[in-house]
Amino acid sequence: MGRSGIVLAICLLTGWTVATAQSRLTAGALDAVIKSMTLEEKATLLVGSSQGVLFGGDPSEAVYDLPATARIYDNRMAVGGSTYFFPHLGITPVVMADGPAGLRLAVKHSGKEGEYYCTAFPVATALASSWNADLLRQIGGAMGSEAVAYGVDVILAPALNLHRNPLCGRNFEYYSEDPYLTGKMAAAMIGGIQAQGVGTSAKHFAANSQETNRKDDDVIISTRVLREMYLKGFEIAVRESQPWTVMSSYNRINGTWTQEDPALLTTILRDEWGFEGIVLTDWTGRRNTAAQVSAGNDLMMPGNKSQIAEIVRKVRSGELPEADVDVCVRRILELVLKTGTFRGREATDAPDLTGHAAIARQAASEGMVLLKNDGVLPLKDVRKIDLFGNTSYRFIAGGTGSGQVNAAYVVSLKDALEEAGYQLNPYLERLYGAHLALHDARYADYVAGPFTQAPGAGELELDRDKVFSLSAQGDVAVLTIGRNAGEARDRHIPDDFDLTAAETALIRNVCDAYHSAGKKVVVVLNVSGVVETASWKAWPDAILLAWQLGQEGGHAVTDALTGAVNPSGKLTMTFPLQYFDHPSSYNFPFSYEGPASFGATMSVTGRKEPLVKDVDYTLYEEGIYVGYRYFSSFGKEVSYPFGFGLSYTTFAYSRPSVKATADGFLASVTVTNTGSVAGKEAVQLYVSAPSGGLEKPACELKSFAKTRLLQPGESETLSFPVTAYELASFNEAASAWETAAGTYRVLFGASVADFRCETQVRIRQSRNWPVHDVMNPKQPIKELSIVK
Ligand code: BGC
Repeated sequence: MGRSGIVLAICLLTGWTVATAQSRLTAGALDAVIKSMTLEEKATLLVGSSQGVLFGGDPSEAVYDLPATARIYDNRMAVGGSTYFFPHLGITPVVMADGPAGLRLAVKHSGKEGEYYCTAFPVATALASSWNADLLRQIGGAMGSEAVAYGVDVILAPALNLHRNPLCGRNFEYYSEDPYLTGKMAAAMIGGIQAQGVGTSAKHFAANSQETNRKDDDVIISTRVLREMYLKGFEIAVRESQPWTVMSSYNRINGTWTQEDPALLTTILRDEWGFEGIVLTDWTGRRNTAAQVSAGNDLMMPGNKSQIAEIVRKVRSGELPEADVDVCVRRILELVLKTGTFRGREATDAPDLTGHAAIARQAASEGMVLLKNDGVLPLKDVRKIDLFGNTSYRFIAGGTGSGQVNAAYVVSLKDALEEAGYQLNPYLERLYGAHLALHDARYADYVAGPFTQAPGAGELELDRDKVFSLSAQGDVAVLTIGRNAGEARDRHIPDDFDLTAAETALIRNVCDAYHSAGKKVVVVLNVSGVVETASWKAWPDAILLAWQLGQEGGHAVTDALTGAVNPSGKLTMTFPLQYFDHPSSYNFPFSYEGPASFGATMSVTGRKEPLVKDVDYTLYEEGIYVGYRYFSSFGKEVSYPFGFGLSYTTFAYSRPSVKATADGFLASVTVTNTGSVAGKEAVQLYVSAPSGGLEKPACELKSFAKTRLLQPGESETLSFPVTAYELASFNEAASAWETAAGTYRVLFGASVADFRCETQVRIRQSRNWPVHDVMNPKQPIKELSIVK
């Protein structure tokens, strides 16, 4: 019997179906249902049924009795969470599961035989690197259909926080350092998932840019920077795709928990942007529940019973108006009405894993970024490959924490190269095989927790002479550097952002040895986030940034190495020369010491004064100068610029044109494949505003488009619609978005540092859009001297 069958059976057995017709949930009976609910039932509906004391519950948890009518969803898949349900009112549970790179479900489903897997798609950063919103829509469709197959109503994704700093441990779950690109990618993902009748949760709302002390950190930020940078992606996603839910983040902004802030959750999200769904908290534990309810935070996740008790108590004492509770109840009921569970959709437990693996592979092939190629790629006349680096033998599909996916398999580079018919060096295979086996044996008893993982194997330190002797054997050397990261920890600088000494030595030795033998070296980066490249990038002949490509990663990288696929990904963030080049590094809990250090730990909740900078509070003093907005405005050299990515072919841009429209402008450019193999090109449209008005970065991404696969000689004209509102910056003094009149430069870029052609458009009339003057910092934010 399926889940809805079970729910129905409970109803029949207990006689709850005799409840009056108007008190059973239908779209037309919302008022009647709310009226017939007791206060206890309403309070229970507002609190998730999932965790209890684990997530900060208190002892009163144990003593609070649920209303007798409430039922707990039997979480056979150990998914992210669910709401209580009330059979006598026809209210079914809402079943949720993480996450951005595929569904996160347990492999074993309680009470069932067999193992259940989900498709591990490329991580969000890799998906965004495709600059192909249609692809994200497609991935969303596949993810949504897996949710349908497993009976999941809401996927807790996409995650759209900004890459404010390269050390944020969850950057792989996020798209970019640019809010426009972020918003567009999220909107496409949401559209794709929701087209399957499955909800999404745009998370973590908002400004959740670090993991260190993530549950307590207070983000001190100006309203301009907040709106222009950290809310913008959410605004685009909400306006364009109307996610069923938004997840309020753990952190505070300017002194107020996001989960308790009516300005954020009601004034901005609902009144200004028109959000129609529910807000649910990130997996917080108990805070001031009444404040959350009144702020418009409808559902407390994962929920503990003390929160129910608090709502009931505070309504009774008059501290919390019951009308506020009713508003949240109504919105949750509206969500329930949309769910597959309510509509009687039966789980098949049989997603199309084969079809989705093909989609994952295709997405992976568009998400890789070719950073360097001195002609070695695609490989020609190569039969024997000498494969170096642990990670070549054990590819990393995705990050850890709630962004992790239990896939049936992960294709390594070794597997895929062998499958493609290459002969791998047997000595290296044995060596790395033994190294990994030893590591596995050492950690055989290690039980990974939700936020912990066994230490990585560490790169093998190969003797330099040995590497020279090996170089006589293969036709080419391929070397993979791996990195993983995940929720609850930020990354650190040495041995993480920077390569380890063993990795650097390996690249150096392999390059010296193979070059002296007249052979080439390719470095593959199977990483979750930005790593330092400037110090070593001159050595190898090619660098392929694979990111974490999901379960089909090895196949995708092999496709790129062989030329079966022509890389077309481009960076969605800047690769700086060194970590400290990022202005946000002045205000980020960077750590030299690794995960064990204080600065990189998850939470230090409850700390007392004196408050610690970057841990208890974080000053966003770099302002709007995040990522390329800083590097391009201040002429700073980078290792690889935002938007950068090579191809095996070349493209010419021609016929730039722009015409003003009633609401902005429409630009276009023609792209021609001028090389000798087929390829796709992602074109970025940057706008440089006229001077005189608000301070602006040198240029900002305002639109982008990608060609279809163009054959040599073939052309395509791409269009870039831009609205006047999209050109606007936020004027704090007036509390309004403003687009100044004047002449705007319209730049067609292959990257932010490579404008291929440009044109200009005149905006005749200034425009402004007043909004609420809310969420102000208590004191003005000081600007860093380097962004003045
Ligand atoms: C994460 C969320 C996730 C939730 C449920 C939280 O710790 O921050 O992104 O959706 O757990 O797993």
